[in-house]
Amino acid sequence: MTKPILQRRFPALERTLPFRRLGDGPTPVRRLTGTTRDDLWCKDESGYGTGGWGGNKVRKLEWLLPEMQRRKAHTVLTVGATGTNWGLAAALYARELGIDTVLALVDQPEDEHVREQQRRLRESGATVHHTRSKLLTMAGAPWLFLRHTRGGRLPYYLPPGGSAPIGVLGYVEAGLELGEQVVAGRLPAPRHIVTAVGSGGTVAGLALGCALAGLRARVIGVVVNDTLPLATRDLTRLADRAAAVLRKRGAAFDTPQLRLTATRDYLGGGYGHPTAQAADAADTAEAAGLRLDPVYSAKAFAAALTADLEGPVLFLNTYGPRK
Ligand SMILES: Cc1ncc(COP(=O)(O)O)c(C=O)c1O
Repeated sequence: MTKPILQRRFPALERTLPFRRLGDGPTPVRRLTGTTRDDLWCKDESGYGTGGWGGNKVRKLEWLLPEMQRRKAHTVLTVGATGTNWGLAAALYARELGIDTVLALVDQPEDEHVREQQRRLRESGATVHHTRSKLLTMAGAPWLFLRHTRGGRLPYYLPPGGSAPIGVLGYVEAGLELGEQVVAGRLPAPRHIVTAVGSGGTVAGLALGCALAGLRARVIGVVVNDTLPLATRDLTRLADRAAAVLRKRGAAFDTPQLRLTATRDYLGGGYGHPTAQAADAADTAEAAGLRLDPVYSAKAFAAALTADLEGPVLFLNTYGPRK
């Protein structure tokens, strides 16, 4: 198994921070042609993962699953919305390690995409509790923990999107990987990197990874979720917590200068509410050979196409393939 760049760069982490490779990196980078921007590039995470399942959740699980094993977890308890990509990825990959998944799911606008996800969730073996709203989920949390306690051990809790500091390391790794691709001449150093923000782990990790790699790109987080605190300062705090984990586990580095900005300009009516701009962006992407989803990646791509940003602009595609 090839070592992650984080462990190569900070050898102390090999002993303190377990890693399990679940996908093949580096993920491809390419120039996108036929759009209104001539300096647009894509780093495509869609194929990162095994068994026909990819996207941005897999890199988080590469650090989270071994950590759960280290803590001898039998069950992971996590939360999301009814169309959760995160909950599905967690269920599929945890199952391979004999770890059960319990999901508490809140409602989101229902469409074909959400119905399809629900079918997949049923097949994944996850135990699903429809808690409907954030308030009811919080009220029901003590019951959920007790209900899924086994042999006196509580389930291991993970926040929405797997955006715990250890999950964030998946995108620190991706930022370092991007740094190596720039050095190898696979793409020009981006001035801006644009990607979706659902729970924040992806952009927080990316900003930290880019800073550690010496890239000066600003990460633009396109917020698509109005149910969590995802302002620039919240995302920066999450990146700081990931940096603190790295230091605590033995990595030594100077305080990195994070370049990270969140925008809510592409959110539309709220989480899961379609926008015309995103639908147009998805069509443009398709013509350029990229398949996007309406909830996350198409809204982010709309920003990559239309925001007033100095290039080169790199779009990080976070949407995974579906079986
Ligand atoms: C396809 C897709 N893109 C982007 C995101 C956002 O990533 P994050 O939750 O790390 O902000 C998610 C999940 O939330 C997702 O499923």
